[in-house]
Amino acid sequence: MSDYRLELRNVAKSFGEVQSLHNVNFEVGQNEVVGLLGDNGAGKSTLIKIVTGYHQPSSGEIYFNGQKAENLTVPQARALGVETVYQERALAEQQTLWRNIFLGRELTTRLGLLDVKRMRSETQKLMVESMGFTSSAVTPDSVIKNFSGGEKQGVAIVRALYFEADLIILDEPTMGLALSETRKLLTFVRQIKAAGKSAIFIDHNVFHVYEVADRVVVLDRGTVAGTFLTKDITLDELMEKMYQVAHTGSLD
Ligand SMILES: Nc1ncnc2c1ncn2[C@@H]1O[C@H](COP(=O)(O)OP(=O)(O)OP(=O)(O)O)[C@@H](O)[C@H]1O
Ligand SMILES: [Mg+2]
Repeated sequence: MSDYRLELRNVAKSFGEVQSLHNVNFEVGQNEVVGLLGDNGAGKSTLIKIVTGYHQPSSGEIYFNGQKAENLTVPQARALGVETVYQERALAEQQTLWRNIFLGRELTTRLGLLDVKRMRSETQKLMVESMGFTSSAVTPDSVIKNFSGGEKQGVAIVRALYFEADLIILDEPTMGLALSETRKLLTFVRQIKAAGKSAIFIDHNVFHVYEVADRVVVLDRGTVAGTFLTKDITLDELMEKMYQVAHTGSLD
C-alpha cells in the first residue's frame, strides 16, 4: 500500500485571470488528519474541490493510494472513498435520522424490501456506541430538522464512516457552531482518526486545527507556505508562524 492516501503533485488551478493554486504539493497519509490553514482566499476550498472531483486542475497530478486519477469526477472521487462534510450539508431535514444515514444506500431484505428494522438498529448502534450521542432527543426516529448544527455534522460524519469513506474532508465544519457543538465536532474528527481513516480538516481557528491534526499545512495565496507536525511544534510556535506568513508572505 502507498504511504499516501492522497497525493497532489504540482497542482495548479486558474479561473480565468485568477490563479488560485500555484504548483501545490500536498499529501495525506494513511490514517493521518491534516489540518489546512490559510487566510480567506488562500485556496483551501479550491484545493479540496480538486480532490473531490468538483474542479479539474489546470495542471498537475492527483494520486489516490499511489494510483494516478485522470480526469477525476465527483462520483469517481466518491467511489475512491472521498466524502465531504460541509456546514450546510444536504441532509433531508424532514426525514428521520435512520433514513438520512441510509439515504440512497438503503439496506434491503433478501426479498428486496427495505430492511427498516436493521437500518434502525444499525443507526442506534452508530449514534450511541460509535459516536457517543448522549442527548435523549436523538433516536433513530428523530427528525433531522430538530437537530443542532453539531448533531447534523455528526450525522454526516457517521454516514461517511459507515460507508467506508477513508478520506473525510471537513471544510470549515465549525463555522456558526456554538462552543459545545464545536467540542462535539472536534470529538467526531478524533473518531475518524480512531477508526483508522484519514481526514483533511479546514478551519480558520488555529486552536481547533492544532487540537485534532497530526500535521498542519499552511496555504498562502495559492502556495504551500509551510507544513508542520503538531507533535514537533507548540501551539504558540504555530501561531507565530501563521503571523509571520500573514505579515511577510513567507516563512523564510
Ligand atoms: N469558481 C471560481 N471562479 C473564480 N474564482 C474563484 C472560484 N473559486 C475560487 N476562486 C478564487 O480563488 C481564490 C481562492 O479561493 P478559495 O475559495 O479556494 O479560498 P479559501 O482558502 O477557501 O478561502 P475562505 O477561507 O474564505 O473559504 C480566491 O481568490 C477566489 O476568489
Ligand atoms: Mg473556503
